Amino acid sequence: MSRLVPVRFQPLDLDAMAQAEGRVAIIITEDGKMGPAVRRANRLTRGAVARLVESERFEKVKSGEVISLAWPGGMAAQALDVLILPRRPDQDEARKAGAKLAKLAGGKPVLVMAANQHRTEDLALGLVLRSYDFDVHKTKESDPAGDITIAHNKPDEAEAAFAPLYAVADGVRMTRDLTNEPANVLTTTEFANRLEEMRALGLEVEVLDEDQLAALGMRTLLSVGQGSDSPSKVVVMQWNGGDKDDAPLALVGKGVVFDTGGISLKPAAGMEDMTMDMGGAGVVAGTMRALAKRKAKANVVGLVGLVENMPSGNATRPGDVVKSMKGDTVEIINTDAEGRLVLCDVMWYAQDRFKPVGMIDLATLTGAIIIGLGHENAGVFSNNDTFCDAFLKSAKAEDEGAWRMPLGPKYDDLLKSRIADMKNVGGRAAGSITAAQFLQRFVKEETPWIHLDIAGVASVSAETSYAPKGATGWGVRALSRFVQDNFE
Ligand code: BES
Ligand code: MN
Ligand code: ZN
Repeated sequence: MSRLVPVRFQPLDLDAMAQAEGRVAIIITEDGKMGPAVRRANRLTRGAVARLVESERFEKVKSGEVISLAWPGGMAAQALDVLILPRRPDQDEARKAGAKLAKLAGGKPVLVMAANQHRTEDLALGLVLRSYDFDVHKTKESDPAGDITIAHNKPDEAEAAFAPLYAVADGVRMTRDLTNEPANVLTTTEFANRLEEMRALGLEVEVLDEDQLAALGMRTLLSVGQGSDSPSKVVVMQWNGGDKDDAPLALVGKGVVFDTGGISLKPAAGMEDMTMDMGGAGVVAGTMRALAKRKAKANVVGLVGLVENMPSGNATRPGDVVKSMKGDTVEIINTDAEGRLVLCDVMWYAQDRFKPVGMIDLATLTGAIIIGLGHENAGVFSNNDTFCDAFLKSAKAEDEGAWRMPLGPKYDDLLKSRIADMKNVGGRAAGSITAAQFLQRFVKEETPWIHLDIAGVASVSAETSYAPKGATGWGVRALSRFVQDNFE
């Protein structure tokens, strides 16, 4: 497990600035207005800040920019980071500014002289999210991420405002860890163990083993994992923070700990990326963690299907026909279209058992969604406009890209099979949509449902505003807010 960087809130102490180690950040508005902390920094550095403000460089500064003064004389810090930010930044401005400071710090401790800055909690969230570093497999002792100290005029108030955001940041951290973890470490069993540990947070956690899944009739899920030595599992996590009689929201995640493609083997180049094919389950886990840690007043159940898609003498063959828990039969044309086979059984089970008010599934489901939307937006599919619009609003509010895609009966026709009720692929055209159509066959008419295809956003090869290269944790913030705005 990576470390969630600690954040300390303390009263503004100008006298401590000179001795602070690591980096010290001060905040100036675009028009160069100086508060007491900035004036102190200016005095310590014998006018360096004032010279910056009067310089030509400062005429061109933009809000959100950071200008670093290295090894400032008169201070013990290795840098004085001058952050340009309005008195009342919007949420994203504040978060992005925090992320910028964290990136510059690169693991060194940071002291932010926030004073009476508005949205200090968002600045701190940006700092925490961008301080993430997945270094658990680097043997060379690297310094743990330096602590973050926020000096504030009202530290208790700032800390109280930050607490729920820190809970969400811890959920994001967990999602990123799970998604970054290699498949020899994060086996189905290890994944289930990590979820069981969340009982300590007040979550109810059940692990269903292969015998139980067989008894429930989850044959399409089991058909995916049968070629692997790692046993398939379904984990059910319940957070009951709401009224006893309220039906829960259900979150369902694809947890393919490694996707070789199975007998329809993937090409070697890039196959290592398929360690992230449990990203949907990772988001479900991280969201449940966030909800538990911030003690959300809502009932939410998270279900993940944990399997490994391997070729072997016992693996599913192209052409096999298997029966789902629902009772529909599926002709497996391509064993690499395995995510939908896992999800359809877990989704059916979720509805059958919990009669949820709504269901959202998350999956790194198709390469086609990356062709369509790249790495900026997840694909959103839904059978219910009201439910979908509410989610899109939450995603937008958290600055997590989400773009709605169409569904329709003509796409569904592409799944017709000669010998079974359906086949598991619809051909090259509209690959993400036919995958969603397949899932929709397992959604009851009365269940509001959203399918999120996160293949393009779960893990990326370039850094984003809030994450270094690799797992992003996309969706935890949006889902936590969605729960807060609609169910609490
Ligand atoms: N896990 C993949 C989808 C994927 C691709 C996720 C790239 C992340 C990055 C999925 O199981 C898969 O293999 N999908 C196939 C479906 C096809 C066989 C119909 C694909 O997208 O090629
Ligand atoms: Mn696949
Ligand atoms: Zn897959």
